[in-house]
Amino acid sequence: MNVLGVETSCDETSAAVVGDGRYVFSNVVLSQTDLHAPYGGVVPEIASRSHVESLPDVIREAVVNRSGLTWNDLDAVAVTYGPGLSSSLLVGIAAGKGLALRLNKPLCVINHLEAHIYSLFLGEDAPHFEDVCPFVALMVSGGHTCLVRVEGLGHYILLGQTVDDAGGEAFDKGASLLGLGYPGGPAIEKASQGGKADFVRFPRGRQKKEKLRTYGLDADLCFSFSGLRTALRYYLKEHPLPKVRSQRSATFAESSTCQSHYADGTATAAKEVTSEVSSIAASYQEAIVDALVERCGKAVRDEKYLAAVGGVSLNKRLRSRMSELSKSIGVKLMLAKPEYCADNAAMIAGLAGTGQGIWRAEAMAMDACPNLGIG
Ligand code: KG4
Ligand code: ZN
Repeated sequence: MNVLGVETSCDETSAAVVGDGRYVFSNVVLSQTDLHAPYGGVVPEIASRSHVESLPDVIREAVVNRSGLTWNDLDAVAVTYGPGLSSSLLVGIAAGKGLALRLNKPLCVINHLEAHIYSLFLGEDAPHFEDVCPFVALMVSGGHTCLVRVEGLGHYILLGQTVDDAGGEAFDKGASLLGLGYPGGPAIEKASQGGKADFVRFPRGRQKKEKLRTYGLDADLCFSFSGLRTALRYYLKEHPLPKVRSQRSATFAESSTCQSHYADGTATAAKEVTSEVSSIAASYQEAIVDALVERCGKAVRDEKYLAAVGGVSLNKRLRSRMSELSKSIGVKLMLAKPEYCADNAAMIAGLAGTGQGIWRAEAMAMDACPNLGIG
């Protein structure tokens, strides 16, 4: 079954064609990073307007120019219906419904979080989900951070989640405080190179259990990143960085150029990074990674596999620490291919290709679900 997938939940406009849930014929991702960078975060109005402008071309590119298939070869249309920004989700949903009607093919609406987990199974050489379930997945992106036990497709148990900021949000806000630009994850990762991760001891989000709003979830498996951001703010108050550091300057004694990139290699910002900023960034990154890895270690029980998905799973330090953890506790680590970690439509089309999601008349009646959860 060939599925055309559409993804517009946040600031990536994406369309993809995937065969039988696994063979990615095309996956076009248009990032809006440059539009949002001046504001230091995603501006919903700009995001939805940009989806409206770009989506027709992105879909045409994915189907006509890159898939090697024709419109007639498509068997279904799949689209993200939540969670995400409502005004952005609505653009994709309207397009999906229109295409399904025009092509006379069934519509399927997909949960974005379930699709991130499914990103592990995209590609000819990817594992088959029936061979690896049950497994524990760390889902960590700009909008979500949670630990999920995956018992099978469609069978998810939420083990823990963030009680405030998402992991990616912590990277983005930290980078903003350090003047490293947006998106913050790649910027902090780049700035951290050569820095000392033990330069500042930032908090790891371990709070008194009774203080965490875990909604019945095990507090040991929940995350909290707002204290980390506050700690960085106080640190920078006590140790102010010279203003010149966030501007381009040739006057630093020890400096390197940091260029932040998106997954597709698009350059977004160039900043001068001193060794001090580098070490603060490395310490901040280490605190986030520590918090994520520690909870993964606690979440795994008798599963044989551990996985990390979502935009933050692109982080090399997180990948290497997850690899160390999995070796030490005797489980195998699964990571999505880099091109499927951040938001993309291949994961939407792929999951729909397995028969998951809400289909046909029920899908046609669906609205955006900005707060959709998992498990
Ligand atoms: O999955 P994603 O594209 O969108 C959401 O569903 O939210 O994730 C975007 C997030 C951003 O916060 C970005 O800063 C973060 O992923 N990110 C990274 C890296 N690349 C992207 N965080 C840490 N290290 C990276 N290399
Ligand atoms: Zn996402």
